Amino acid sequence: MSLILHSPLDMHLHLRDEKMLENIAQASAHTFAGGLIMPNLVPPITSKEEVVAYKQRILKAIGKEQFTPYMTLFFKSDYDKAFLESVSEEITAIKLYPAGITTNSEGGVSGFDIEALRGTLETMSELGIPLCIHGETNGFVMDREAEFVSIYEKLASAFPKLKIIMEHITTKESVEALDRFENLYATITAHHLMITLDDVAGGMLRPHLFCKPIAKRPEDREALRKAALSAHPKVMFGSDSAPHPQHAKESCGCAAGVFTAPIALQILAELFEKEAASQEKLQAFICGNAEKIYGIKAQPKKVVLEKKPFKVPQRYNGVVPMYAEEEISYSIKEVHSGQ
Ligand code: DOR
Ligand code: ZN
Repeated sequence: MSLILHSPLDMHLHLRDEKMLENIAQASAHTFAGGLIMPNLVPPITSKEEVVAYKQRILKAIGKEQFTPYMTLFFKSDYDKAFLESVSEEITAIKLYPAGITTNSEGGVSGFDIEALRGTLETMSELGIPLCIHGETNGFVMDREAEFVSIYEKLASAFPKLKIIMEHITTKESVEALDRFENLYATITAHHLMITLDDVAGGMLRPHLFCKPIAKRPEDREALRKAALSAHPKVMFGSDSAPHPQHAKESCGCAAGVFTAPIALQILAELFEKEAASQEKLQAFICGNAEKIYGIKAQPKKVVLEKKPFKVPQRYNGVVPMYAEEEISYSIKEVHSGQ
């Protein structure tokens, strides 16, 4: 049995830089038609020159693969209008991190004083630049995302024309917020559709499943599944595939991030089949919704998956993927780029 996906898009992707970029870029570029590239490098991407240069490094790393890197800028509250106008042609969105909330986010926003953010957000709204947010407070780890919903609501009502994307949502509260504000959208990862906190820490600690936001309760996963499997039109796939070297994960201070790029499509195919969701819904979740939300047109790519067990390798160039050495039920059969 085979399944054809057209032009899959990964609307939240960490490709990193230098050796890591070279090691992992192909894993996404082979099966995806494009991805929204996160800017949390060290230092983060905050200028037009850096966006352009990083895009060139990505294109070099992906070599012959046909893949569009949709670039982002790291949010700063002091970006002025002239700068945003000039950078807008190079970027698809701006990513906002609360300061210190996750990997390489130290230069992010502290305190969430809407007045302090107003200048940049009004200009983004005027220029039609979407705002992607890592929505977690610095509260208790299981409550951080639910607590952030009130900040999403304040932002959504203060800037009704600004498209706000709640990144990698993990809670039922975030799913519910989607329907309360016209300008709120969300990405959902593959791993948050598969796991709960039990899988991370309910038995032996599984560092390769540790990420931010942390996986939550079964009822939260249920709400995420409902939104993804029904291809809720305001929801799109964003893997948050976040590679770290094996030693940084298997360490007493484990880095946050799950590396799913090489297996994301296969496990989504498996989930949609298991839950009897249609291929059309998967296609919308993986491409169509993102095209509409971002107003982009993915380049042509046809990915043929087949129902054939695939043993996930222990490592991809030194990075341990989700489900390493386990068997998943779908494999990538062929990929055709172009029309
Ligand atoms: O788990 C995560 N890893 N969450 C993020 O938000 C960032 C990411 C990373 O860059 O490693
Ligand atoms: Zn991320």
